[in-house]
Order: sequence, then structure tokens, then C-alpha cells
Amino acid sequence: MEYCIETAGLTKVYDSLRAVDGIDLRVERGSFYGFLGPNGAGKSTTIKILTGITAASGGRARILGQDLGRTPLQIKRRIGVVPEDLCIFENLTAREYLTFVGRMYRMPRDTARRRAEELLELLGLADTGKTLALEFSHGMKKKLSLAASIIHDPELLFLDEPFEGIDALASRTIRAVLDRLVQRGATVFLTSHILEIVERLCTHVGIIHKGRLVKQGRLDELASGGSLEDLFVAAVGQPEEAAVGLSWLGGRV
Ligand SMILES: Nc1ncnc2c1ncn2[C@@H]1O[C@H](COP(=O)(O)OP(=O)(O)OP(=O)(O)O)[C@@H](O)[C@H]1O
Ligand SMILES: [Mg+2]
Repeated sequence: MEYCIETAGLTKVYDSLRAVDGIDLRVERGSFYGFLGPNGAGKSTTIKILTGITAASGGRARILGQDLGRTPLQIKRRIGVVPEDLCIFENLTAREYLTFVGRMYRMPRDTARRRAEELLELLGLADTGKTLALEFSHGMKKKLSLAASIIHDPELLFLDEPFEGIDALASRTIRAVLDRLVQRGATVFLTSHILEIVERLCTHVGIIHKGRLVKQGRLDELASGGSLEDLFVAAVGQPEEAAVGLSWLGGRV
């Protein structure tokens, strides 16, 4: 099978820390893949490598059938990304920013404007007028970043914590948009700490712990009737460390 994302021994070393430690990801085309792990596990670093934001220290990655090391630009045209730090040009309005991003993907001006307008409407940003993105709240910036990531109808979407800081209404809209993208054949690769959302949306999960991929597969097979939280805790839990308490609270937590 040709995978949408396939890595072999992917590694990222920061000084002496192996933030990503030889992971072999297999993400099927058309899947909704939840990439889970505790804080500091290596999720964002993996996304940064796969989207060309940072270079790997070792290993290989194929994205959409192309070698990441050889054809990064061709790959970038076909993917969308909401990175951890959002990366928006903040001295533009939402409308200007989305039209600019559309134009960067070489869309005709009219198409870029029309898509920008539809996205602003959908995500509740249509009345932000002349307000610059730097004055946006965190959630508004996130919505704008998400809009920018899908304006060119990507085949593969990387989302780093797309639901963090997002209100319940917008979260619903975003879930519906992602569902629609996947129904149309796109692949979504996301990280989230909100396991209820992952459980509802994802067909596949991978769990990374201390830079190593400790579980990967179809969610229904991995969870086998149990909850995703149980699966997660079993994969990354450290019972002996968890059985500690705070002296002033008394007892163990
Ligand atoms: N630029 C950097 N320089 C040095 N160390 C880094 C750098 N970026 C990340 N790290 C380290 O790499 C490890 C993995 O970080 P990463 O951001 O990938 O974790 P994460 O799984 O995304 O965590 P979170 O759930 O908190 O977002 C952490 O120990 C982090 O301190
Ligand atoms: Mg992260």
C-alpha cells in the first residue's frame, strides 16, 4: 500500500535530547489520524519535520508519494498546516491575509477573494473588518490559521492542536469542515489533548511517548471496545510515578 505519510526511523535531536526517536509512521490516504502523546512527547516536532518547518536529524519521510528531502516545494503546494505557533502575518486584516495566502497558492484573485469570504463567514470572522490580526484573540487567530490552511483545498492537512482555545460553536463547525474534507478524500493528521474529540473524529491513532511511537493503528482495533483514555493511559502511563501526592493535600491523588 502507498501511504499518504510514511516515515522510517524519523529522528530529531536537540543537543542531547532525542525529541523524535526513530518513528515509523504509516498514515493511510483518506484517514483521519489522531497523533497523541503527553506534553513534550514529540508531536509538534514531528509535525514541524513533516511540513518542512524544521529538518530531521535522521530517517526518511515520504509525503503524498514524494520524498520530503527531495521535493519539499511540490509537497508544500498539496498540504495545509496549522502549526503550533500559528504563523500568521499579523499586520494584515483577516480578509487581506486569506486573500494573500490564496494568491501565494497561485489562485486567480477572484477565486482567492471568494474563498476568503466564504471561510470568514463560516468561521464567524466576517465582521472583523479593518481589525488587524495582531488584535485578534487567541481563538480568532486559530480560526484564521485554520482558514488559511484549507483555502487551497489541500490533499493532506496537518493540524497541531486545532481545538485548543476554540469555543464550542466554532469547534463544531471545524469538526464538520474536517469531516467534509475527509469525505472528499483528503487526509487529516492532527494532534489534540481532547480525547473525546479524537474519539469522535479519528479513524486511526498513533501514540508517541518520549519521542517513540508506542501505538499505531485503527482506533476501533486498538481501543477494542474500551475508551481512548484507557488506551492512552495504558500506552503512556507510569503507575509508580502517578501514585504520588501533595504533602499539603494529604494522601495520594
Ligand atoms: N527548538 C527546540 N529546542 C530544544 N528543544 C526543543 C525544541 N523544540 C522542542 N524541544 C523539546 O523537544 C521535546 C518535544 O517537544 P514537542 O514540542 O514536540 O512536544 P509536544 O508533544 O508537541 O508537546 P505538547 O503536547 O506540550 O505540545 C520536548 O522535550 C521539548 O522541550
Ligand atoms: Mg505540541
